[in-house]
Amino acid sequence: MSTETISADAANHVEFKSSKNLYIESYGCAMNYSDSEIIASILAENGYKTINSEDGADVIFLNTCAIRENAESRIWTRLRDLKALKNKRQGDLVIGVLGCMAERLKAKLLEKEKLVDLVVGPDAYRDLPQLISKAEDGQKAVNVLLSREETYAEITPVRLNSNGINAFISIMRGCDNMCSFCVVPFTRGRERSRSALSIVAEAKDLSDKGYKEVTLLGQNVDSYKFESENGQITRFSDLLEMVAQVNPQMRVRFSTSHPKDITDDVLFVMAKYENICNYIHLPVQSGNSNVLERMNRNYDREWYMDKVKRIREIIPDCGISSDIISGFCGETEEEHQDTLSLMEWAQFDFSYMYQYSERPGTLAARRYKDDIPEEIKQRRLAEIISLQHSMSRQKNKADEGKIFKVLVEGVSKKSDLDYKGRNDQNKIVVFPRENSAPGQYVEVLIEKSTTTSLIGKIVNYL
Ligand code: SAH
Ligand code: SF4
Ligand code: F3S
Repeated sequence: MSTETISADAANHVEFKSSKNLYIESYGCAMNYSDSEIIASILAENGYKTINSEDGADVIFLNTCAIRENAESRIWTRLRDLKALKNKRQGDLVIGVLGCMAERLKAKLLEKEKLVDLVVGPDAYRDLPQLISKAEDGQKAVNVLLSREETYAEITPVRLNSNGINAFISIMRGCDNMCSFCVVPFTRGRERSRSALSIVAEAKDLSDKGYKEVTLLGQNVDSYKFESENGQITRFSDLLEMVAQVNPQMRVRFSTSHPKDITDDVLFVMAKYENICNYIHLPVQSGNSNVLERMNRNYDREWYMDKVKRIREIIPDCGISSDIISGFCGETEEEHQDTLSLMEWAQFDFSYMYQYSERPGTLAARRYKDDIPEEIKQRRLAEIISLQHSMSRQKNKADEGKIFKVLVEGVSKKSDLDYKGRNDQNKIVVFPRENSAPGQYVEVLIEKSTTTSLIGKIVNYL
């Protein structure tokens, strides 16, 4: 081979290396979507461009969720499709599983059916560039070590699929709660909080770039606690206030609150700042105290009701949503009825509702029998969903005639002629565009409603 060809090859190689394409598909909760933006940032430093489709990708990552069995089966199906794609492309593709399922199944993913080349858990993303090289050389590329410190604090996320208006800011990682049904403490490790200053700096940067809404993310935001080098402690209520002060025109939301930990301090800060949205996602899981005890949630029905009362005392127009699980181990018909009656009492604006899915290794899997037959789980879930839908329908109907401040977020799904946005309470509002533009605040008079959205017209430009 002539020197010329070698140098041409070398040049091509360098050229190729410095412009590889990465495609990431995210599954699961907002934490995973936020992590994908950190991954894109780490790899951008190493010459990878994130693209929006698997066509032309050199590396394809699935950032996976393990919360329920069906979340995992979706991923297995997708991995088989990708394997076929890889075969078609004669191997010239790295396929990786990241996130919670990587952590749960570890090296098994590389071995079983040999569907993937790389397996990386949520605390090991800094290691991705060298693991990709390993995978390209045909070696096993696995890192599923969990960390007690990693918060990716100084990494500026690359905003993926962004509308330039809403952004997530991850404020903590992991979870120490050990709810008996939940796999998250095993897949995400111990709880740790990110430095308050780095969070505020990220919010400031987003505001400077024109973003209009940030959502602070953690599995249990109320237990956020950061101690700086000089011993100063920042709690969630302090952090919320610091972020709210970044720009009064930038909305602040947060998720998820835990009923056992949410404090009056947080509610008072919410009431004090107009730009902190009056909306709390406060998952109850069950309305029965015995079930809650088996779930290891550390609160009972009365405690939860007291929290809802307190929220409504301090923030009368606060939107409240919930997560509910049907058919948890040993759940009797009466216990299920308690869930329905609590939902009715609490008047949730909406809920995410699931039937219980046993996760290997969790406290519930070890301690209790998954003894509620599938059809009963399904029937109870259907009752829960039907009650929530009728409450959402009524609650949305009650908003007709009201005027809400809405942040215009983009084109409505149903019609190009309409924009959609959300009100303070996190309800979706749809309205004809008129002279508004995404990123702007408008006041909308609600004229009609459905189970999932409010429909109206602009009455004022803010
Ligand atoms: N950290 C949040 C929730 C994280 S998981 C919190 O504590 O509220 C999101 C939701 O998935 C949970 O609130 C729960 O309702 C549901 N979930 C978690 N594990 C589940 C399981 N094994 N089966 C069914 N639903 C589950
Ligand atoms: Fe899971 Fe409970 Fe932690 Fe939420 S608080 S992530 S449900 S263990
Ligand atoms: Fe799923 Fe992991 Fe989130 S298990 S819900 S992606 S923390």
